[in-house]
Amino acid sequence: MKNNIIIDCDPGIDDSLAIMLALSSKEINVVGITIVCGNTPVQLGFENAKKILKQMNRLDVPIYIGENEPLKKTYTDALDTHGADGLGESFLPDVCGYEQTKTAIEFMAETLKKIPCSVIAIGPLTNLAKLIAYDEGAFNQIEQLISMGGNYRSHGNCSPVAEYNYWEDPEAANIVYEHMTKIKKQIHMVGLDVTRKIVLTPNLLAYMNRLDANVGSFIQKITKFYFDFHWKQEHLIGCVINDPLAIAYCIDPSICAGFSAYTTVETKGITRGQTVVDAYRFYQQKPNAFVLTEVDHKKFFYLLFMKLFHKTKEELDILDTLMV
Ligand code: RIB
Ligand code: CA
Repeated sequence: MKNNIIIDCDPGIDDSLAIMLALSSKEINVVGITIVCGNTPVQLGFENAKKILKQMNRLDVPIYIGENEPLKKTYTDALDTHGADGLGESFLPDVCGYEQTKTAIEFMAETLKKIPCSVIAIGPLTNLAKLIAYDEGAFNQIEQLISMGGNYRSHGNCSPVAEYNYWEDPEAANIVYEHMTKIKKQIHMVGLDVTRKIVLTPNLLAYMNRLDANVGSFIQKITKFYFDFHWKQEHLIGCVINDPLAIAYCIDPSICAGFSAYTTVETKGITRGQTVVDAYRFYQQKPNAFVLTEVDHKKFFYLLFMKLFHKTKEELDILDTLMV
């Protein structure tokens, strides 16, 4: 039985790899893609999502445009990381079509009330916070809510303590996490503690090109800028691909380990966007999050390569030698 999912995203280079992984996996049925302002302004994210669907020959998947600014904070893009076009300055040809007949929030509400469906959020949580206000009953129907965002013990990437998706709209993240407390459900927090261990290296990229030059060269085209950013930023040879881990975790939760805890998001001051994970139950609140702390990065890359290149584990005979 396929998992119906909506991918709420801000494509974005790693978002694009996440969409490619989801569309390559028989376990997942991508019911739709909703765009939120984040890495890129929402219109650009919409254009980029179309480019990824064209590359995957999946222009049958609907895309809907969501919120174009955070709930309160002034919008700050991440084009310094993702390039002027949001896809690593690959400047892929525009894809026409996708006249917008409804908003992302309307699409989410309608879909969640119609079929069993999970949401994998790999951008700021603005659309989800708006969905709670628009149709709380629909939001409560979400089968599984997985969010790439936040950090427990790992340092931030937008401030010493905050990760971009939650820093970009801390009010939205706080609303979603507090709502999970109210409905006694847990959001799966795929934070920097685990995603930082998912590094696409030149060797892995070279292997991708050997396995399928079309897919490999496309990934190379959209990640070159990202490789350069990571070298400049932290002298890393490779790039951290956060978002695909959220998809992989949906397909095979055994890739990660974690624990349940009450978690809230700071919305004010110097620590704005920080996820406060109450691991030792100081606040005596019911857990509203399953916080991921461990990842088997080799298991992730086997899954990524098996899905993207339609190979068995045995056929990927040199992959293990390419991973540190
Ligand atoms: O902090 C990393 C996250 O912020 C990723 O989802 C990246 O695409 C950006 O949205
Ligand atoms: Ca993202």
